[in-house]
Amino acid sequence: MAALSGRDLLSLADLSPKEVQELLEMATQLKLQKLKLRCNKVLGLLFSKASTRTRVSFSVAMYQLGGQVIDLNPNVTQVSRGEPIQDTARVLERYLDILAIRTFAQQELETFAHYAKIPVINALTDLEHPCQVLADLLTIKEYFNTFTGLTLTYLGDGNNVANSLVLGCALAGMNVRVATPSGYEPNAAIIEAARSIAGNKTEVILTHDPEVATKGVNVLYTDVWASMGQESEADDRTPIFQTYQINEELLNLADPEAIVLHCLPAHRGEEITDAVIEGSQSRVWDQAENRMHVQKALLASLLGAD
Ligand code: CP
Ligand code: NVA
Repeated sequence: MAALSGRDLLSLADLSPKEVQELLEMATQLKLQKLKLRCNKVLGLLFSKASTRTRVSFSVAMYQLGGQVIDLNPNVTQVSRGEPIQDTARVLERYLDILAIRTFAQQELETFAHYAKIPVINALTDLEHPCQVLADLLTIKEYFNTFTGLTLTYLGDGNNVANSLVLGCALAGMNVRVATPSGYEPNAAIIEAARSIAGNKTEVILTHDPEVATKGVNVLYTDVWASMGQESEADDRTPIFQTYQINEELLNLADPEAIVLHCLPAHRGEEITDAVIEGSQSRVWDQAENRMHVQKALLASLLGAD
């Protein structure tokens, strides 16, 4: 069982390859109901951006563990009135056992974690989305039963999901290719960190060519072309990203057994077509379900449940 008691999860790079494997194994056991864990603790959700999957999957995971959840929507707390993060963090840690934060700047999350002694989880920042990628890895493992020898290709914007995916693939022992338009590459420091984790065992490849990136791969992944906070750029981005769309033509270049993933919410007809997301190779609903199982494992592990 992964022993992460008392730690934060701010970046996927906070976990070792062994800890990732242990969390995935724990999530599998929880999903199959071969493992039952209880923890009578309280989770706070402090989300400054919209969320369906993360909010609900964290809440249900905590309820199923026997714990409780408080939704700390910034609009109904003093956060929206500008109470300093360092004050909010030191107050919330006196009430809560664990805190999941969704915000814009990674630095804000890190300040929270610095001042709050309870475990703090990154529930999405502009830089990373580690909980999403743990669920993605679980979905890949369920389908292929291994990571060894697999290649995942991410197409589109080098955003938070792309950054965490690159780290996740390196940690899991999978090759990763990222195809973006020029100027939209993933974070350079994260690429460097992923290459350091991968060593000479697996590849971390950046390209601007979606077809070369897709040929023969096992997993195709995409996300929106304009993330939360970038809505005003959406119209300008559409023509720039058009050739990175996952459609049937592109999918035909991948391995015939390849699966398609998308963190959701999707913009059908933009980064992915209706036919592909509804097609036989799509695993997006299993992927969404796995958010709950992997976050239950994560909560139990950070809280030291037994
Ligand atoms: N994939 C994901 O994080 O979805 P939500 O924004 O709905 O939480
Ligand atoms: N990249 C997207 C992911 C949403 C789950 C965003 O940040 O809006």
